[in-house]
Amino acid sequence: MSVPADSKPFTAFVSRPNTNAYVRSFAASAQPRGDLINRTFLDAMTVRYKVFILEQKVPLECELDEDDPRSCHWVAYMSDGIDDTSPTSQLAVGCIRAVPYPQSPHPIPGAAYTIVNGLNQIKGRWVRRVEVARDAETPGLLLPPPPSYSTPQSELEFVPASAQDALAAAEVAGPDRATSLHNGKEPYIKLGRIAVLSNCRGLRLGQYLVQTALYWIKANPTYFDQHDPGAAAATAETKFDGLVCVHAQVHALGFYIRLGFVVDEDMGTWWEEGIPHVGMLLRLDMSKGS
Ligand SMILES: CC(C)(COP(=O)(O)OP(=O)(O)OC[C@H]1O[C@@H](n2cnc3c(N)ncnc32)[C@H](O)[C@@H]1OP(=O)(O)O)[C@@H](O)C(=O)NCCC(=O)NCCS
Repeated sequence: MSVPADSKPFTAFVSRPNTNAYVRSFAASAQPRGDLINRTFLDAMTVRYKVFILEQKVPLECELDEDDPRSCHWVAYMSDGIDDTSPTSQLAVGCIRAVPYPQSPHPIPGAAYTIVNGLNQIKGRWVRRVEVARDAETPGLLLPPPPSYSTPQSELEFVPASAQDALAAAEVAGPDRATSLHNGKEPYIKLGRIAVLSNCRGLRLGQYLVQTALYWIKANPTYFDQHDPGAAAATAETKFDGLVCVHAQVHALGFYIRLGFVVDEDMGTWWEEGIPHVGMLLRLDMSKGS
């Protein structure tokens, strides 16, 4: 597939797609009940399949999660340059989603997560090798301090989930913990599953997708309150005030910094499907028009 350099991207939007017909064990393009799935959402899942599953080696069953049916999704398309008037010449090249509040608790620093049946589960934690050696001498005294995103992966060792991890998970099941940039209570929207096909990177499509979602959030600050009873309940006390979070893959930090996001140091570093992530936040100025 090739996209001509002068092709202008555009986006399609789908809100809260019904994912009941989506079968996790099939690729997006081979869904057995594909005709029952919203076309734009299927295009988003096709991009996600190519980027996260084929390129980043995320397991197929882990891609669709419980947040997909309650999110808004955008897909970026570009023309293949052969026939601009034909819908079939529009190629899905990127995608992003906005997940409404309420959010799951902030991840546990150091924890390694995987998605099982759409739900996030801890399968273990990453610990500095020196800490593993120290723990072997004086076992179980203290939970080792979690590694940071600048710790080289070669200095880390994976420790499978233990009773300690279950305890830590239980600890965050109630109200969220406060971090450097979030008080643990304020409702925020999470942008995620941002992906651009590898042969279309560097064309500002990623930036275009994030900015499209941010403009939409500014223009529709109460959208989720109106359409999602869970979101309405989450803003009963504190209204949404433009706080937007990303769980950024560490390699993409620079991409988000250029867009105005700031690393939340207290949120720490955790691993999703083996990929290190950090929390980043941005506050939209909701007083100015979109
Ligand atoms: C991250 C990703 C979406 C960026 O998409 P893209 O279309 O190539 O990015 P853009 O062309 O819009 O880049 C915008 C700016 O960010 C910079 N940038 C892009 N990727 C970057 C990266 N990984 N690290 C640092 N800077 C990056 C670009 O150089 C550009 O900077 P400039 O404005 O100074 O020229 C894309 O690389 C991707 O899909 N990666 C695989 C999936 C992934 O990791 N998703 C992120 C999950 S958190």
